[in-house]
Amino acid sequence: MSHIFYTWTAQRHAHPLTVDAAEGARFRTREHGWLWDLESQTYNVNAGHGNKHIQERMIAQIRELPVAGPNMRLDVREQLTAALAERTGLCRAFLASGGAEAVENAIKIARLYTGRSKIVTRRRSYHGATLATLGIGGDPRRAPFAADLPPAIHIDDPYPVPAGEPSAWVRSLHEVVEREGPETIAAIVLEGFTGTNGMQHPPPDFWPAVRAVCDRHGILLVDDEIFSGFGRTGRWFAREHWGVKPDLMVLGKGLTSGYAPLSAVMVSAAVAAHFDDHKLWCGVTHYAHPVGCAAALGALEVYAEERLPERADQVGAVLAQRFQDMSQRPCLHGAVRDARGLGLMRCLELDRPAAPIAARLLERGAYVPYRDNLLFICPPLCLTAEEAHIVADLLADAVAENINAARA
Ligand SMILES: Cc1ncc(COP(=O)(O)O)c(C=O)c1O
Repeated sequence: MSHIFYTWTAQRHAHPLTVDAAEGARFRTREHGWLWDLESQTYNVNAGHGNKHIQERMIAQIRELPVAGPNMRLDVREQLTAALAERTGLCRAFLASGGAEAVENAIKIARLYTGRSKIVTRRRSYHGATLATLGIGGDPRRAPFAADLPPAIHIDDPYPVPAGEPSAWVRSLHEVVEREGPETIAAIVLEGFTGTNGMQHPPPDFWPAVRAVCDRHGILLVDDEIFSGFGRTGRWFAREHWGVKPDLMVLGKGLTSGYAPLSAVMVSAAVAAHFDDHKLWCGVTHYAHPVGCAAALGALEVYAEERLPERADQVGAVLAQRFQDMSQRPCLHGAVRDARGLGLMRCLELDRPAAPIAARLLERGAYVPYRDNLLFICPPLCLTAEEAHIVADLLADAVAENINAARA
């Protein structure tokens, strides 16, 4: 009998893999041998497995000073936050341990700064699994708790991309803001690029229109880059694709490449200045954990030195081309309805459930996350173009085998 809970499943249905090694874009399991890691564990191992530089930074920090209270001044904290300020163009960081915790603190900071309470998000969005973050998002994972959550305020999703100017999505945004009363809205929180809710491309007026609404009404724009940040979409941060500057950013996952738990809320100079004279009602025990900070510094150095955002862009283009071919290949009989994404944050929309295809891939050497009829392809950013072709071959074969099995 196991004494650990597995997440997002009835325990009887959990089929954990036993992992005993990991290197680059693959990990080794006792059950299936080496597997391509198309989920980067939890969409976080952006630098790849077994990265010596990150490990050495962490080991050095463990030897020097593995623990320090939240309000101790440490070089590693100063260095990391200076690097994050430079990368994000924002000014000051609040450092927590996990993504949802950071989103909650972003909500608190937005409420303290604006004196308003409402938070607006997109209908199909995920911002974490705590009650407050389930409360603002629209992901199906809120369902068991929905009856006891305060009503969420959602704008429509910007897809399928509507024709005309402004897009239907922008009209929905204006309607929601007018209906709720702009003077009551503290923040609009958006994923830089939406993750397991579909990876659909927003229309070009998506981000600029939100920025304009926020500017007009003194609402803060919060960019949740927990999934899409740190090179995943072929840019350091996904919102760079739309050229818009947020007031707050939320960072997690790839911040440390998953080597240690750490998350961050980055805030603009104006928001930071507010807390010069107003109390910051926020804090956690593991605030700015020194080993997490060392891991994050190491990860940032690896992303820059190995030019991993650029690489994700290039290798993502290889996958995009291969997936496009799959959607048009006659022998796949239209099984791939759509192939979309940015960089190494990609998704195949199928005309059938994805689970049997993911099960087949596990036998063939790839671990691929899925939801309903969507397969997600999010490998570590160190994946090479040659490896991308191997992965694409495996995916195409698994879809073809599924079609043949269904016909037999
Ligand atoms: C966009 C986004 N926000 C927030 C979270 C929550 O992060 P965590 O699971 O670290 O709490 C996630 C996790 O998948 C996410 O994708």
